Amino acid sequence: MPSEGQDRVASVPTPLTHPSSDRESRHVAHFYTDDSSLLQTLSKTIAAALVSGGAGICVATRRHRDELVGHLEDRGLNTGRLIRQGRLLLADAAETLSRIVVDGAPDRARFMEVVGEFIRRARSAANETNPKIAVFGEMVALLCADGKPEQAIQVEQFWNELAQIESFNLQCAYPISNFSSAEHNEDFLKICGQHSLIISSDGRTQLGLDLVQGAGAAGHETSTHASEELLHLLVGAVQDYAILMLDPEGRVSTWNSGAERIKGYRASEIIGRHFSSFYPEEDLANGKPRRALEVATREGRYEDEGWRVRKDGSRFWASVVITAVRDRDGKILGYGKVTRDFTERMRMHEALRKEIAEKVVAQESLRESERSLRRLSQHLLRTQDEERKRIGRDLHDSLGQYLSVLKMKMESVDAGKFLAADRVHEQLTECIQLAEESIKEVRTISYLLYPPMLEEMGLKCAIPWYLDGFTKRSGIATSFDASADFGRLSADAELAVFRVLQESLTNIHRHSGSPTAAIRLLQENRAVVLEISDRGKGMDPAGAHQSNGNGSGSLGVGLRGMTERMQQLGGTLEVASSSQGTIVTARIPMEAVAIAGD
Ligand SMILES: Nc1ncnc2c1ncn2[C@@H]1O[C@H](COP(=O)(O)OP(=O)(O)OP(=O)(O)O)[C@@H](O)[C@H]1O
Ligand SMILES: [Mg+2]
Repeated sequence: MPSEGQDRVASVPTPLTHPSSDRESRHVAHFYTDDSSLLQTLSKTIAAALVSGGAGICVATRRHRDELVGHLEDRGLNTGRLIRQGRLLLADAAETLSRIVVDGAPDRARFMEVVGEFIRRARSAANETNPKIAVFGEMVALLCADGKPEQAIQVEQFWNELAQIESFNLQCAYPISNFSSAEHNEDFLKICGQHSLIISSDGRTQLGLDLVQGAGAAGHETSTHASEELLHLLVGAVQDYAILMLDPEGRVSTWNSGAERIKGYRASEIIGRHFSSFYPEEDLANGKPRRALEVATREGRYEDEGWRVRKDGSRFWASVVITAVRDRDGKILGYGKVTRDFTERMRMHEALRKEIAEKVVAQESLRESERSLRRLSQHLLRTQDEERKRIGRDLHDSLGQYLSVLKMKMESVDAGKFLAADRVHEQLTECIQLAEESIKEVRTISYLLYPPMLEEMGLKCAIPWYLDGFTKRSGIATSFDASADFGRLSADAELAVFRVLQESLTNIHRHSGSPTAAIRLLQENRAVVLEISDRGKGMDPAGAHQSNGNGSGSLGVGLRGMTERMQQLGGTLEVASSSQGTIVTARIPMEAVAIAGD
C-alpha cells in the first residue's frame, strides 16, 4: 500500500494500465487549504523520482514553482543542474494552458502534443531505462478557479489518456475553497472520479482511493471505507448546509464548515453541547427539541421549519431534517441533522404572500367600487327622470295654468270687442296680472335650476334669496349667518357650496322633521366653511358613515354627490348626526377657491 507521510490510502478495484511500463500510473488529487504543506508533500514525491534517477515535471504557478525549487534544494538536490540536464522541467501553468486551448476549450490533440512532449523529454533526459516520472500539474486548478470545472474535468481525462501510453505519477492540486458550496458537490465528485488517489493536504482530512491493479476483496472493503472518508471530506467542505451528528442524548458530536457559517459556533465551542442551544426560548419552554428527537426516534425522520438562534443571539429561519441513525440491531447511535438557512427565502415568501393578500383586498375594493358606481348611475338616471317629471309637473301645474287662463282672457277680450271700455280695461288688467305671475313662475323655476344671482352677486346674496323661497315652500324657518368679510370665490367653488346648501336643505325638509335650519358661511383656518344644522331626528349611523367619505353604501345620491363635489375641490364633507339633529359641514381649502387672477 503506498503511503506518503501521514496520508492514508485506500484501494478500489479500478486499475489504470499502460503498455509501456510495468509501473502503474497514479493520478492523485490534492485538495489543500494551505500551500506550504501541499508543496512539502509534492516536493517529497518529486525528490524521490529525481533521486531514483527519474525526472520531475512541474506545470504550476510561478509561486508554487519557486517554492518547490526551494524545497528540493532543502532536500539537497541541485535544481540548477537537474534543469540543465532536462530532468527537472518547470513550466508555467497558465502559459501551458494557453498552448493547449483551441477555440476557448482544451484540445485533446494539442494536449497530447504539448504535454506528451514534456513527458518524452523528461524520459529521454533520465538516466534510467524505465524511469520514475513525477508530475505536478495546476492547469486544472486554474480552470476551476476560472469557473470552468467541466474543462478541468476534460483536462483530467486527457491526463488519464496520456497515462495509458506514458508512465508517470501525476499530482494535481486544487484549493478546497473552490468547492465550498453545495452547488460544487457534483463537480467535486466528478473530479474525484478522475483520480486514483484523493488527498486532503490540510492534515485534518486524509483519504485516498488508490486505483491499483488487482485489488481484491480487501480492496473492496477499503473502498467502502474510502467512500465514507470521501463523504466526510465532502461534508466538511459544504458551506450551504449545516451538517452535524448528535449523540443519542442530543449533544453535538460533529460539526462542518456550513454549520459554523450558519450558526456561528466553531467546532471547539459547540461539540459536546446539547442541540437545544440552537432553539429560541419559547421552543425550549414548550419542549420542542425533545419532541424533535422523539419523532426522529419513532418515525426515523423529523422535519421542521422555524426560527433558530445563532451564537450571537440573532435568529434565522431554518429548514431542519433530523434523521435517526441506528446500528444493525436497531439501537440508536445518534442523529444526523441537516439545517439550511432559509431566512431570505422565507422573507421573500412572506413579502409575496403580503403582496397577494393586498392585491386580493384591492381587487375586492375595486369590485365594491364598481358595484357602488353601478348603483349610483342607476340612482342618477332615476333621479334625473324624477327631476324631469317634477319640472314638467311644475310647468304644467303653475305656468301652464296661468298661460291657459291668460289665453282664455285674451280670447274673451277679443270676442268682446264691443264691450264697454272699462270692462276691456278690467279684462286686460287681469291678463297683465296673469302674465306677471307667469314671469315670476318662470323665474322661480329657472332660479331653482340655476340661480343667476349666484354668478352675479355671489353666495352672500344667493343664499338668503334661496332660503326665502325654501321657507315659503317648506315652512321651515331658516337663519343665515355670514362673516362680514366673506368675499367672492371661484365660480366652481360657489356653485359647489350652493349645491351642498340646496341638497342639505332638501334633506332637512324630506328626512329630518326639523322646524328650523341654521346656515353659517365663514372662513376658518384658511378654508371656506359652510355649515347647515337642523334640530331634527338625526340620521341612522349608515347614512352618517356613508357621508363621511365611505360612500359605497346603497343610500341616496345626495350625500355622495356632496362629498364628491367637495373632494373634487380638495375639500371635505362631514356629517355629525345625533337624535338632537344633524350638522353638515362642507370645507374647501382657500387655495382651491381662489378666483383665477386674484
Ligand atoms: N338632515 C337629515 N336628518 C335626518 N336624516 C337625514 C338627513 N340628511 C340625510 N338623512 C338620511 O340620510 C340618507 C341619505 O341622504 P341622501 O341625501 O344621500 O339620500 P336621499 O335624500 O335619501 O336621496 P337623494 O338625495 O338621492 O334624493 C337619507 O335617506 C336619510 O335617511
Ligand atoms: Mg337627499
